[in-house]
Amino acid sequence: MPKYLMNIVSGMRPTGQLHLGHYLGVLKKWTELQDSRNSLFFVADWHALSTSYEDKLNLRKLSIGLVKDWLSAGVNPEKATIFIQSSVKAHSELFVILNMLTPLGWLERNPTYKDQIEQLSNRDINSSGFLTYPVLQTADIILYDAHEVPIGEDQRPHLEIAREIVRRFHYLYEKEIFVEPKELLSPTPKLLGLDGRKMSKSYGNSIYLTDSSDDVWQKLRGAKTDTNRVRKTDKGNPDVCLVFDYHKEFSSLETQNEMREGCEAGAIGCVQCKKACLNSIDSTLQPMRERRDELSDSFIEDVIASGNKRANTIAEEKMRAVNSLVFGEFNS
Ligand code: TRP
Ligand code: SF4
Repeated sequence: MPKYLMNIVSGMRPTGQLHLGHYLGVLKKWTELQDSRNSLFFVADWHALSTSYEDKLNLRKLSIGLVKDWLSAGVNPEKATIFIQSSVKAHSELFVILNMLTPLGWLERNPTYKDQIEQLSNRDINSSGFLTYPVLQTADIILYDAHEVPIGEDQRPHLEIAREIVRRFHYLYEKEIFVEPKELLSPTPKLLGLDGRKMSKSYGNSIYLTDSSDDVWQKLRGAKTDTNRVRKTDKGNPDVCLVFDYHKEFSSLETQNEMREGCEAGAIGCVQCKKACLNSIDSTLQPMRERRDELSDSFIEDVIASGNKRANTIAEEKMRAVNSLVFGEFNS
C-alpha cells in the first residue's frame, strides 16, 4: 500500500445494486481519491441493519455484490483498503464508549434522522440503533484518523456530530487522540430517475452499473422528454428534458452542444438524441462491464479478507490507546 499524508474513510450500506446516481455521487470520487490518500472503503453492514433489521437480507451476499460494484467502477484494492464493518469489532467497541458520552439531544436534533423518520414512516425504524446511527458512523471514521470523509450532502449533519463527539471526548479525557474529520462533499448529482422521480429500486427507473447496453436503451427509450415536443420538427427545450440531464453528466461538451442546438431548432428527433445519450452512458459503463467480467467471487472474498486484516490492525492499535485512556493501563 502506498503512503500518503491524508487518510480518508468512507462507507456504503449494502442494500442493493448501485446505480448511476451512486456512481456520480460518491463512487467516482472514491476512485479519484485513492490515488492521493490512504483510503479505506468499507461495507457498512451494521448500519444496514438500522433500517432493514426486519428484512432478513442476505447481508453477506449483498456485501460481496457491493464490493464487486466498487471494483468494477475502478476502486483498486491495491490502492485502497476494502473491508466489512462487522468484521472489525473495534467499531462496536468504540461505539459503546462514544455512546456513553454523546448527549441524546445531539442525536434527536439531527436533521437527517428527522427526515428519515418521516420518509420511512411506513416502517418501524424508531429503534435505539437508528437514533445512534451517527455515533457508530463516528467510530467508523475516527478509528482510522480520517482527515476527510467523502460523502453526499445528506450525510453532512453526521460529520458535524462526529466532530462534536471528538471534541467532547478530548475535553473529557484531556487528551487529543483522535483527528477531527472534515466532510468532502461531492456535488449532489442532479440526476433523477428516467421517469422524473427520485432514483429508486422500487420505481425501476434507475440505470444500474450492471446494466447491459440493451437494458440502458430500454430505459432511455421510455424516458420522458420535453413534453411539448410532439413532432421531430417541434422546437424543444433541453433544459426541461430528463434525457438532457444525462447528457450533461455523461456526454462531451461537443455532443451536448450538438444535441442542444438540434433540439432547440427542431432539427433532430428525440430518438436520435437518446441514441447519443446511450453512447455516452455506455462509454462510462463499458469499462465497468469489462472489469466486472474479470472479477470472481473468490477474488472479491480475498480482497475483503486482506482488507479486514489491515483494518483490524489499525483499529486495534487505536483501541489500545482509547482503552488505556478510558480505563487506565493494566500492570502499571
Ligand atoms: N451513513 C452513510 C450512508 O448512508 C454510510 C456510512 C456509514 C459512512 N459509516 C460511514 C459514510 C463512515 C462515511 C463514513 O451513506
Ligand atoms: Fe430531450 Fe433530446 Fe428530445 Fe430535446 S431532442 S427533448 S433534449 S430527448
